[in-house]
Amino acid sequence: MHESRIDSSLPKPQLYAQLVRELHALIAGETDAIANLANAAALLYHSLPDLNWAGFYLLRGPELVVGPFQGKPACVRIALGKGVCGTAAARRATVIVPNVHEFAGHIACDSASNSEIVIPMLHDAELMGVLDIDSPKLARFDELDQAGLEEFVAVLMPGIRAGIPE
Ligand code: SME
Repeated sequence: MHESRIDSSLPKPQLYAQLVRELHALIAGETDAIANLANAAALLYHSLPDLNWAGFYLLRGPELVVGPFQGKPACVRIALGKGVCGTAAARRATVIVPNVHEFAGHIACDSASNSEIVIPMLHDAELMGVLDIDSPKLARFDELDQAGLEEFVAVLMPGIRAGIPE
């Protein structure tokens, strides 16, 4: 079994550098998209402090459908443009929400969530889905998380573009 060596107390730049190295090792030689997404969600959830949900929503036709994640069971389908996930997907840009209770249209899946970051997953400008991370802490995510998580997603993309099964 793979044993993570991530030190969650590191400053964010070093923590994300470790996470990206660990992700490279986890997905090396594996082309199964679900396997790689599942391990990526577990790696994030167990390495980043103060999270209550981390995982993926995958684009299925006109909407996002929940994929591999760690945390409580979540809402299954989100239309593009709806909620934080659908907003990031429609804009094809990362959205940081310091206080989800002040985000019009936020979709509450876990009442413990107070802040959220959503990163779009793009392959050659084509939207594949989003990475969604929630925290019970207000203003948990900043531009350092955005930079680290955008790199994390960029490293993950080759490990899933072989195909997400319909
Ligand atoms: N809060 C998200 C919904 C997904 S859950 O957080 C897991 C949103 O507003 O899109």
